[in-house]
Amino acid sequence: MIGFRQTAFGYDAATPILSGMDLTVNPGSFLFLTGASGAGKTTFLKLCQLSLRPTAGRMTLFGVDVASLDRAAVTRMRRRIGLVHQDCQFLDHLPIAENIALPRMVRGDDPSRWQADLDDLLEWVGLARRRDALPPELSSGERQRAALARAVIGSPELILADEPTGNVDWAMARHILHLLIELNRLGKTVLIATHDLNLIRAAREEVEVRLMRIERGTLVMGTAL
Ligand SMILES: Nc1ncnc2c1ncn2[C@@H]1O[C@H](COP(=O)(O)OP(=O)(O)O)[C@@H](O)[C@H]1O
Ligand SMILES: [Mg+2]
Repeated sequence: MIGFRQTAFGYDAATPILSGMDLTVNPGSFLFLTGASGAGKTTFLKLCQLSLRPTAGRMTLFGVDVASLDRAAVTRMRRRIGLVHQDCQFLDHLPIAENIALPRMVRGDDPSRWQADLDDLLEWVGLARRRDALPPELSSGERQRAALARAVIGSPELILADEPTGNVDWAMARHILHLLIELNRLGKTVLIATHDLNLIRAAREEVEVRLMRIERGTLVMGTAL
């Protein structure tokens, strides 16, 4: 699903902040990415979502070398990926239900094709009664659940979550984790960046998790907790 071969990235290509990365992610896996603040977790997820491209080495996504993709192919591929941003990034003047549906609207999908999905998703994340609220009116837990719903409204195969429990209490963190585990049980590949080791321990009790860590600018696999 994701393949890195000596992959590197630098905002300034001459000085990569991530390099020598080797990784194979199999479909259906549940992965955690840890690393100190500033290590490059968000950057790594942006590479996986194709909003950044490697500056050296090879990267494949869904079996295709990303260097060969034109813009249209990138757009199609990004539809297969759901990203839960660290800071949620909603349009504050639109009701939360519309924010969640936005990826489908932007695609030009007719509402008849996603209205039922939206209703189901709002129910699933517990926001059915908050659907008309504006993003600034939501609690941080509600915002995170809305961000998750928006990431999955397009039925992605791969879900990337950037510190999805960074701003919520432990009970809400467990709740969000369970939603991600449910998605994994439905066959989705899930990759979560977090520095919350308790979250990883909790996940381990329920699913087989794979751990990665960014250390000294590269990816280290299977780090013990
Ligand atoms: N758009 C950018 N331009 C230049 N440097 C950036 C940019 N975004 C992040 N960085 C730098 O890249 C490094 C990794 O950042 P980031 O991926 O956000 O780390 P993390 O998510 O692990 O905290 C940091 O040193 C950060 O300052
Ligand atoms: Mg980050």
